[in-house]
Amino acid sequence: METLIRHLEGSSADDSVYREAAEWIKAGELVAFPTETVYGLGGNGLLAASASKIYAAKGRPSDNPLILHIADRKDLSGLVQEIPAGAEALMDAFWPGPLTLIFKKRMRVPRETTGGLDTVAIRMPAHPAALALIRAAGVPLAAPSANASGRPSPTKASHVYEDLKGRIPLILDGGDSPIGLESTIVDLSGAVPEILRPGYIGLPALQKVLGTVVLDPALLKMPGKDTRPRAPGMKYRHYAPLVPITLIEGEAKGRAAYIKRKAREAAEKKLRIAALVSQETLPFYQDYQGGHLLLLSLGERSRDESIAHALFGVLRRLDTLNLSHVYSETFETGPLGMAIMNRLRKAASFQQIQVDQEAEDE
Ligand code: TXA
Ligand code: MG
Repeated sequence: METLIRHLEGSSADDSVYREAAEWIKAGELVAFPTETVYGLGGNGLLAASASKIYAAKGRPSDNPLILHIADRKDLSGLVQEIPAGAEALMDAFWPGPLTLIFKKRMRVPRETTGGLDTVAIRMPAHPAALALIRAAGVPLAAPSANASGRPSPTKASHVYEDLKGRIPLILDGGDSPIGLESTIVDLSGAVPEILRPGYIGLPALQKVLGTVVLDPALLKMPGKDTRPRAPGMKYRHYAPLVPITLIEGEAKGRAAYIKRKAREAAEKKLRIAALVSQETLPFYQDYQGGHLLLLSLGERSRDESIAHALFGVLRRLDTLNLSHVYSETFETGPLGMAIMNRLRKAASFQQIQVDQEAEDE
């Protein structure tokens, strides 16, 4: 199958593109589209066959449920059995936007879409192209992130093309996804609201609306037989480049000293390593002499939305750079720290070491 990319202009010139995309969706096919978080791979969310197509195109296990994307609040009641009060408050505060809520599903939502669960995840995205496509299609769009399973989520149309070319007929190119990390997922079906996936909408913002909110404890650990995250997708090895990544915790100076020492060791073996750093910490590496250390700045710690925005693109590049190892600084302190570190820990398969300053003083 040939995969076409249509560039969106952000004007009425796009209307014919949305009509073309909607025809594919109505015919049971898949269309990749931009959202404010990451690119989605959309199909008719009420059609079991479209869900199966999505799993096949991504190479994704079919027990991993999909999110339904809607463009109007009035479309929610036809999909879910009840709307808890907490959900109304969250939707008032954050929809349209990067927040996905879990509800008890109605019969008309196929089990293929929900990976066999009785619940359904729903989100109203804030990106105008996503909203226009949902309205043109006239159905909720089931849409996972538009990456091949196991790859970092796509934040540009070119990432989607890399992963899915030949597997889907159409990609709508709306430029970079502004946020760059997937939506926050909140489950309100239990006694206490629970975050199943951290995202741009952080814990303090959710607490302000809901009062008590807890984080699925499994998110902080390596998935294993005793730790099963409640969002099935969070258990998979995700975002993991082939090159091993180790996270380095500690003060900026000690951390940089450790990474420079690793670069000298790599140089002796004629190998090359990379370090994921920030604009603020770059100066700590500037005295390093010689090749064998590739410094990749993710952005500014003081604006950690810049780090979130760049992260998946940089993770995608790592396997093309001929590296023996990647060391990454950690980024837990800013408002998006929890969401960034959740993705980074998975990319690093939870490999993390603490470096103390004295030990690294030269
Ligand atoms: O930002 C986003 O949410 C993007 C854009 C495209 O909207 N979509 C996205 O979808 O990240 P996906 O399929 O890559 O991730 C959906 C996550 C998975 O971890 C899945 O297991 C979880 O949501 N999920 C979906 N339905 C669920 C349910 N009923 N109960 C618990 N977790 C659910
Ligand atoms: Mg995904």
